[in-house]
Amino acid sequence: MSNGTSVTPAWLKDAVFYEIYPQTYCDTNGDGIGDFAGIAARLPYIRSLGCNALWINPCFDSPFKDAGYDVRDYLRAAPRYGTNDDLVRLFEEAHRLGIRVLLDLVPGHTSEEHPWFLKSGEAAPNEYSGRYIWTDDWFRGVPGAPYVGGEFPRNGTYMLNFFKCQPALNYGWLHPKEAWQSAMDSPEALATREAMKDVMRFWLSRGADGFRVDMAASLVKGDDELKSGTCAVWRDIRAMLDREYPDAALVAEWSCPWQAIASGGFHMDFYLEHGDNGYHTLLRDGARSFFRRDGEGDIRRFLSDFLPRYEAARPTGYIALITCNHDTPRACPDLTPDELKLAYAFLLTLPGVPFIYYGDEIGMRYQPGVATKEGGYTRTGTRTPMQWSEGPNLGFSDAAPDRLYLPVDSAPDAPTVEKQTGDPASLLETVRALLALRHSQPDLNVEQVSQASGFTNADTFTRNFRTKYGMTPTTYKQTNNNA
Ligand code: GLC
Ligand code: CA
Repeated sequence: MSNGTSVTPAWLKDAVFYEIYPQTYCDTNGDGIGDFAGIAARLPYIRSLGCNALWINPCFDSPFKDAGYDVRDYLRAAPRYGTNDDLVRLFEEAHRLGIRVLLDLVPGHTSEEHPWFLKSGEAAPNEYSGRYIWTDDWFRGVPGAPYVGGEFPRNGTYMLNFFKCQPALNYGWLHPKEAWQSAMDSPEALATREAMKDVMRFWLSRGADGFRVDMAASLVKGDDELKSGTCAVWRDIRAMLDREYPDAALVAEWSCPWQAIASGGFHMDFYLEHGDNGYHTLLRDGARSFFRRDGEGDIRRFLSDFLPRYEAARPTGYIALITCNHDTPRACPDLTPDELKLAYAFLLTLPGVPFIYYGDEIGMRYQPGVATKEGGYTRTGTRTPMQWSEGPNLGFSDAAPDRLYLPVDSAPDAPTVEKQTGDPASLLETVRALLALRHSQPDLNVEQVSQASGFTNADTFTRNFRTKYGMTPTTYKQTNNNA
């Protein structure tokens, strides 16, 4: 931050993240679902890619109606992955290998089974009556928002943040208009905020290195267009981190660095696949995708969206650049492995912090036919088991195939780590080489261009690109695609 007292953790300058969906990464006890021990066993592999940080999707106690984004107990690891002690051991082993670990913080809502919520639904006022957003009459809904009535003795209805199983926590309203709407500085709204800080302290004090923050923009209700209320809450949380855990990192699921970074104080903000934004034009715009051999080849569709974001983030934070995530269709098979090599070369060397989604390093393919699992719907095809080897279940698990959390890719040519290891032409070894290059060249780290020269419009981008690669981005694309 620019106020002189807060500092962005230095380790982010050279950080390359790897996102792990714990359900499907590596199963060590044969129950068909991934676990902490499996992640720990694969840490040397992750390090060998050149990744030095992890983001693990929610791994807390949950009824799993939204794959763990419906948290029932923030302070308890989900038994299917292991115990709290196993998770702490995973932090320790990761740290021994020079890998930091971000957990997933879900601050906007809990599971409908969270004890806070069950208490808040009681008729008699209690400590948790103000923890969620309830109206004051069983027949009155929350205008303009999804809500539920008729489930609890309390005389009111409650607001949802996402699915029906995810009631919205109460951080207050920017401009309360009704008696049932709390102010942001009301005791009950502040109590929610302090409770979430305590959740963060709990895991940071046990070795976590920070959090990916789910739906970070969703906290204050009735917020204005600038999200002034929600940003004020995050600045306060950031101040706590600066005082107590200055090395901890926060990355927002927000995709609006003007708000998340410049105003809210996040260290990083994801540039997500949204509609037809600039990121979308690179990998997922069908026949027009920039990185398709037969695409249109107009990088300005990306740059006109990316550059203002980059400028907004630059003074105090970084754009987090993803190959994919658990909510987004994998780019393969829409792009071929050769096209992906070029796309990754771009994403892994742009100014920003890269996040590789597990399996993208081998070109795992989106699986269109799989049945929805734990609220995944169309996202489920992106969440199938990691493909390690040629063995049963592609090395993911020893369980019978019908007991797996999700089926593995059944294609005879399904990519695996085993097949690609040691083959310099493979996507896997290309990713390794790219990350080795990134780590070996200080001018490829996150602050590369801001240190070197201006990067304010498409012309300077092209100039810098030419300096670095000896040709324009368009020529680079054509040359490499036709090679
Ligand atoms: C975020 C998560 C998504 C989840 C939703 C509700 O968008 O990435 O997986 O379903 O929030 O928590
Ligand atoms: Ca298991």
